[in-house]
Amino acid sequence: MARVGVVGLGTMGSGIAQVCLQAGLEVIGREVEPQLGEAARARIDHYLSRGVEKGRLTAEEKDAALGRLCLVTDLSELASCGLVIEAAFEDLDVKRTLFAELDRIVAAGAILATNTSALSVTQIADAAQHQERVVGMHFFNPAPVLPLVEVVRTARTSDEVFGAAYAFVQRIGKEPVACNDTPGFIVNRILIPLLNDCVRVLDEARVTPEDVDRAMRFGAGWPMGPCTLLDLVGIDVHVHASEALYEKLREPRMAAPPRIVAMRNAGLFGRKSGRGFYAYDA
Ligand SMILES: NC(=O)c1ccc[n+]([C@@H]2O[C@H](COP(=O)([O-])OP(=O)(O)OC[C@H]3O[C@@H](n4cnc5c(N)ncnc54)[C@H](O)[C@@H]3O)[C@@H](O)[C@H]2O)c1
Repeated sequence: MARVGVVGLGTMGSGIAQVCLQAGLEVIGREVEPQLGEAARARIDHYLSRGVEKGRLTAEEKDAALGRLCLVTDLSELASCGLVIEAAFEDLDVKRTLFAELDRIVAAGAILATNTSALSVTQIADAAQHQERVVGMHFFNPAPVLPLVEVVRTARTSDEVFGAAYAFVQRIGKEPVACNDTPGFIVNRILIPLLNDCVRVLDEARVTPEDVDRAMRFGAGWPMGPCTLLDLVGIDVHVHASEALYEKLREPRMAAPPRIVAMRNAGLFGRKSGRGFYAYDA
């Protein structure tokens, strides 16, 4: 697995590519348009340059890492990869189409991984002929910063493939946790209803976002409050994940409360849009 393919170089894909490059691996990054690939390269360059400024890596290491990144638009150019991590748009049809194609393209021993947050890995794998080679590899945002990767197995994933995927996550310096293919896996299954409850408390107990954040920091030992965390995750991302989990589990706590849905509809996405529960400088 010295050469890794990353499909989709958006927020997650570019972060995952950066982690692999910094671990000394060659990365073939696939975007749908060349300019999207170049934008991802610029983002990786920016974050690595910040690492150089902070003394986390040398300028030579940064150049070497970027030198191991190859950008392509044609999926067939991933044929030589021992592992392909898909981080494309969160849509079952998009992912199933990609997995059917990737399964035809890569070599017999290659592993196919999806970074889906809320879709069924089993349903994605089902589009591939060789379902035993498919796993979930759920990185957290920002991938270069957060250590956890949930390594997800379906009923069809082979022990060999699962073991290799788990070992790969360790090799790139991340903390793998094994789990079965269940809605929300581990962290989102717990965190999404919890964050939705925090938002409900704003109206029920007439508390300000600042005070809910202070309450959870000073009373529950959270490193950051729930409203700050939601602004960081992205209100749109959270509402989308809540809707997907509610659809699967039908538990009322999974459904996004009206207040946060209204924020999403108004474009108040949090940090990335400049305003969410809090206002941010551009
Ligand atoms: N953002 C998060 O916090 C987060 C965290 C963990 C996992 N994820 C998962 O990672 C995946 C990517 O999310 P993101 O936040 O990076 O999204 P993003 O919008 O930043 O990037 C999506 C990527 O998909 C590509 N794409 C769009 N349509 C496509 C198509 N038809 N075929 C192939 N590629 C296509 C885009 O060019 C882009 O590179 C999703 O499955 C998401 O659920 C997201």
